[in-house]
Amino acid sequence: MITLGIESTAHTFGVGIVRDGEIIANTKSMYSPEKGGIHPGEASEHHYANAVNTIKNALQNANLEKEEIDSIAFSQGPGIPQCLQIGGVAARSLSVSLGIPLVGVNHCVAHIEIGKKEANLDDPVTLYVAGGNSQVIGSAGGKYRVFGETLDIAIGNALDKVARKLGIPHPGGPEIEKLAEKGDKFIELPYVVKGMDFSYSGLVTKVQRELNKHEKEDLCYSFQEHAFAMLVEATERAMAHLGKDEVLLTGGVAANKRLNEMLEIMAEDRGAVARKSPMKYCMDNGAMIAYTGQKLLKSGEKTKFENSETRPDWRTEQVDIPWL
Ligand code: ATP
Ligand code: FE2
Repeated sequence: MITLGIESTAHTFGVGIVRDGEIIANTKSMYSPEKGGIHPGEASEHHYANAVNTIKNALQNANLEKEEIDSIAFSQGPGIPQCLQIGGVAARSLSVSLGIPLVGVNHCVAHIEIGKKEANLDDPVTLYVAGGNSQVIGSAGGKYRVFGETLDIAIGNALDKVARKLGIPHPGGPEIEKLAEKGDKFIELPYVVKGMDFSYSGLVTKVQRELNKHEKEDLCYSFQEHAFAMLVEATERAMAHLGKDEVLLTGGVAANKRLNEMLEIMAEDRGAVARKSPMKYCMDNGAMIAYTGQKLLKSGEKTKFENSETRPDWRTEQVDIPWL
C-alpha cells in the first residue's frame, strides 16, 4: 500500500509518502513570519502557494507517478482553521481525482505513532511539547488520553513570549537554551503543577517583571529549570498512575538538551526508558500523517467525503485507535 499524507495544521505544509509502513518521502515548505507569531492568513496563503510543488517534490523523491499512490491521508486537526483548510482541500482533490480512499488523521496521534515507530517504543507515556501544544498522553481503553496538560499557554509559546521580551527573534527556544547554558544563579520563580496539569502564564509574567533585576542568562536558566521540572513532574505522575515504563518526548521543544536530560534522569530513577522522536518527526511533517493514515486504513478505517471537514478543535481522546 502506498499512502501520501498531507500536514498543514500550522506553519508547515508537509507531504510524506509511506510504502507498506516505510517512509519513502518527507518534504515540506515552511512559513516563517517576518516578526511575531504565526499570522493565520499569511500561513494559509503560503500553504496555498506551495501545496502543489511540495506534493510534486514528494512524488519525485519517492520516484513515483501520482497514479501509483493508492490512498491519501491528511491532518484533519487540531490546528489553525485557515491552515487546515488548505491541506483538506488538497487531500480531497487528490482523493477524488485519483479515485482513491481518504483518511483524516489526528495531528497529535500522528506525533505519537511516528515517535513509537522511530524510537522503538511499545506503549510509552508521551510528552508532546510544541508551540501550540503541551500534553502528557498515555494509552488507556483503546484511546490516547491526555492525563496532563497546560492550563493556559503551551511551553513553546511560553519560551517564545519570554524570548520576545528579551529581544530574541521568533522562535525563541533555541536562543533561550543557549543563554540558559551560561546561567548559574537559580532565581526562585512560580512553579505551578495542579494534579497532572501545569500552568505557564504566571511564570512568564514573573520573568518579564524580573528582566531588569537579573542577568538574562540567569533568568533563562531559572525559567527553563522551573518550566521543564513542571513537565517532568506531570509526566512522572502519569507514568506512576498508568504503570508505564517508557516515555517518548516529541514536539519542537524536544530539541532542548536540558529537557531531555531531566526526563532521562527521571526515567532512570524509575527504572524506565526515555527516548526522543527523531527531530524531523518532532517537528510537524507529512510522513507522520502518511504513516498513521496507512495504519488506520489497514485497520479498516477511512473518512467519507462528507465527514472530511477539518476539525480545528479535535481532541486526542476523541479518536478511537483500533490497534490499542
Ligand atoms: P504545534 O505542533 O503545537 O502545532 P508548532 O508547530 O508551532 O506547534 P513546533 O514547530 O513543533 O511547534 O515547535 C516550535 C517550538 O519549539 C517553538 O516554540 C520554539 O521556540 C521551540 N523550540 C525549538 N527549539 C527549541 C529548543 N532548543 N529549546 C526549547 N524550545 C525550542
Ligand atoms: Fe505538531
